[in-house]
Amino acid sequence: MTKQLPPTAQAAVQAYIERHGAKPTVLARAPGRVNLIGEHTDYNDGFVLPAAIDRDTWVAAGPRSDGQVLAIALDEGKAEDHFELSEQAVHHPESGWRDHVRGTLAQLVPLAPLPQGMNLVIAGDVPMGAGLSSSASLAMALLRAAQALSGDDTLNGKQLARLAQQAENRFVGCQCGIMDQLTSAEGKPGHALLIDCRSLDTEPVSLPKGTTLLIAHSRVRRGLVDSAYNERREQCETAARAMGVPALRDATLEMLAATPMSDPVMRRARHIITENSRVLSATQALRSGDMQGLGELMAASHASMRDDFEITTPAIDQLASLLQNVVGNAGGARMTGGGFGGCVIALLPQALVPAAKAALEAGYRSPEGLPALVYLCEAGAGAEAIHMTATGTMEG
Ligand code: GLA
Repeated sequence: MTKQLPPTAQAAVQAYIERHGAKPTVLARAPGRVNLIGEHTDYNDGFVLPAAIDRDTWVAAGPRSDGQVLAIALDEGKAEDHFELSEQAVHHPESGWRDHVRGTLAQLVPLAPLPQGMNLVIAGDVPMGAGLSSSASLAMALLRAAQALSGDDTLNGKQLARLAQQAENRFVGCQCGIMDQLTSAEGKPGHALLIDCRSLDTEPVSLPKGTTLLIAHSRVRRGLVDSAYNERREQCETAARAMGVPALRDATLEMLAATPMSDPVMRRARHIITENSRVLSATQALRSGDMQGLGELMAASHASMRDDFEITTPAIDQLASLLQNVVGNAGGARMTGGGFGGCVIALLPQALVPAAKAALEAGYRSPEGLPALVYLCEAGAGAEAIHMTATGTMEG
């Protein structure tokens, strides 16, 4: 398949040519994601129902022979990072995107043949810091690019997703689950993915024709997100231990009622147990075209994140309720992602998009007085790497 490159990819290729005087050897792409339902269930071995979105991080890459990596981030004002390609990654003093690049490539070193160094140019249109997994998409694009450069593709999407998650867990310091990376690896156009986060089995679930993924960004992002996230994870593990199960995936509400534990830990566990069953019911609702049922489950998920898991904020609650009012029983809306700010997702008929935008404009301002940022997305395809041809087009 040969097609024209989108502008973000063209910008990465152009910047690569300007810096290195030659075209990149490969171009890799990996999408961000939005989660329809199933929040914080992934690291509890549970179920999630996300979709890859049609916004990507692109990596233009070529080999070097001196064991070094030179990475340039176009969206960071062409900032550069230069480091040795090694299994033992070293943190950059400014951390940020550089640590994602360093930590991710280091995971691949012991497992796959790699070139003796790489030149990388990174560009993307996944909103950063919005909870739409721009870092997971960066990691997956890097892994795909590195594999394609070495001409070795023995690691499949699930294995690469595990490596990207490992980089977050071991190097960046967020104890995240596998949802973001696996969705970026295996997304399917027009579909959500039901993921069993224990077996890593994925099942595409078709989204109804004529519906849109409307993502409203609150422009709120609370500090210390990683520590609050890691604390939730610890509370879930405490609850699982108290009930004597390997993970909350294996717990029931009856077991919860019969086991003494502190009130916050009980409520965290209740969110996970009920959320897992909501994911399975939401999958059924989508499959049978029951949009009212789906909307009720999304609303219940939001309430559980607000009251039991305590990861929403007043701004996010307001966005969700504005969108739920517009959507009525034709779809649903809820906070999406790790929480403490970020975005609300609404799955709604295209015909309701103007009304939803008008309601947001009239009814929402961030604490700084800014309107919500609205992204209209479609479910997109998972990560891929492309070898560049002489004409500047790409071949899949
Ligand atoms: C973040 C993490 C995911 C997942 C979600 C919450 O996006 O990276 O692994 O836990 O939060 O569902």
